[in-house]
Amino acid sequence: MGVIYMKILNFGSLNIDYVYSVDHFVQKGETISSSQMNIFSGGKGLNQSTALGRAGAQVFHAGRIGKGGEFLVEQLKEAGANTDLVVLDSQCSTGHAIIQNDAEGDNCILLYGGANQRITKEQIDATLDQFDAGDYLVLQNETSNLPYLMEKAAEKQMKIVLNPSPMDEKIKALPLDKVTLFFVNEIEAAQILGQKELESTQEAAAAFRSMFPQAAVVLTLGSQGSVYIDKDQVIPQKCYKVKAVDTTAAGDTFTGFFVSAISKGKSPKEALDLASRASAIAVSRPGAAPSVPTLDEVENWEFAE
Ligand code: RIB
Repeated sequence: MGVIYMKILNFGSLNIDYVYSVDHFVQKGETISSSQMNIFSGGKGLNQSTALGRAGAQVFHAGRIGKGGEFLVEQLKEAGANTDLVVLDSQCSTGHAIIQNDAEGDNCILLYGGANQRITKEQIDATLDQFDAGDYLVLQNETSNLPYLMEKAAEKQMKIVLNPSPMDEKIKALPLDKVTLFFVNEIEAAQILGQKELESTQEAAAAFRSMFPQAAVVLTLGSQGSVYIDKDQVIPQKCYKVKAVDTTAAGDTFTGFFVSAISKGKSPKEALDLASRASAIAVSRPGAAPSVPTLDEVENWEFAE
């Protein structure tokens, strides 16, 4: 008999990304021209499910699209995700993002939630009915009714993975004591811990252990790499530095590959290294979901120092 892996439910956002190439981000009162505009599939949820699927995990994506969003579902299917739990809501438009991508590959993003903000308690109940104790639930902060979803998933004893991005006041109102695994950058970590800024990794580890003794944390540190923290260990991971073409979805790729590896029984150290390699590849390519590599590409990637 083959190994049975826990199912992964990603109840997350699906966006149409309108990506504009610019020299610099537009300033207050300024009008600038872009040299190029591309339309990609995106949304933190969709990007993470794409990464989970391409990493070989058994992923189910639940969410909501409106008019014009059907191609997002096709993209998820191509990546290997099950999309039976994506609802088409003809009463609204699909969520979208307006993304400026500058000459350094950095971005800034303006979101319109659309269907992502119309996820109902009924949809949540019907979705969670398909999952059991021990299955993973992956969440970001781009969909509605998150507190209810987290409470219900915790009642079922699912493992809740939270990437509280984009960070805002709503995160503080979530039942964070139910989270099994956080994915946070330094700003998100400081806000969750109620600090102005993080002093050091060791101090952040101590604070997370004290506030969330039930949880493990993956703290991403940009060019400084990342750190895995749980009650017993702190594991640092270097960043594979590449020439950035487009950093959109790098974090989502990291999350997807890390969760996939953990769900297959890999150690946090192995998962960190795989996720770092995958996100480096994503950074070197344009677009959100289209930039996410396959497991094969990541395993065969040779990093040139
Ligand atoms: O993390 C990148 C994603 O953030 C983009 O694809 C965009 O849709 C926003 O959700």
